[in-house]
Amino acid sequence: MRVFEVREFEDSESVARALAAAVADRLTDAIAARGRATLAVSGGTTPVRFFQALSNAEIDWDRVVVTLVDERFVGPSSERSNERLVRETLLVGRAARAGFVPIYSQVENVELAAEAASEAVAGLLPLDVVVLGMGTDGHTASLFPDAEHVDALLDPATGRTVIAVHAPSAGEPRLTLSLGVICKARAVFLHIEGDAKRAVFDGAAARNLPIAKVVEAAKTPVVTYWAP
Ligand code: 6PG
Repeated sequence: MRVFEVREFEDSESVARALAAAVADRLTDAIAARGRATLAVSGGTTPVRFFQALSNAEIDWDRVVVTLVDERFVGPSSERSNERLVRETLLVGRAARAGFVPIYSQVENVELAAEAASEAVAGLLPLDVVVLGMGTDGHTASLFPDAEHVDALLDPATGRTVIAVHAPSAGEPRLTLSLGVICKARAVFLHIEGDAKRAVFDGAAARNLPIAKVVEAAKTPVVTYWAP
């Protein structure tokens, strides 16, 4: 059954603050229950304010390990690196004490990087919190609707952890957590802004878009945080 909830906010600042508070609560609960917490975050442009708010949260950051939902196959010095974004805007202030597991590695090709990342991320599973973004084509993480082998990519039963993605619309090869890993997380949030993304999200199920696959297969209801 498709279950989800949309929480609506006035503007980018208030949605970022509310999402940061919700994520901080989940991380605190995870630390209380299991002594540590794992968090996977998305890149792109939307999360910057959210990262800034979360980096100030008063939680036991020494016990938190952060990784990425997806990554572009570019080194951390690139403007397009999600690792760079996270290091510069999330892993600062109080959150500087958190651990970080990158999914990019400097190897010959994205397939080898996916193998290395799968080993590194395996020790963090199941993830306590996943924060997704979405594009206006309905992609989430790097699960692009025009990706090669898209049916395998969108199979929630996959045993794979991190997958190499080649999609014409993606810009460069990508690395993404698999749909299976995302859907087995203990909490999944989606952060979207603007009317265009809201309309895509509302119509995603009818068009069988990747974001709808996540909503459908997630172990716990996906909670969407939206502002115009
Ligand atoms: C990435 C992502 C991706 C992102 C969406 C939305 O690295 O590009 O993690 O899935 O969340 O493309 O991106 P914007 O926030 O820039 O619109």
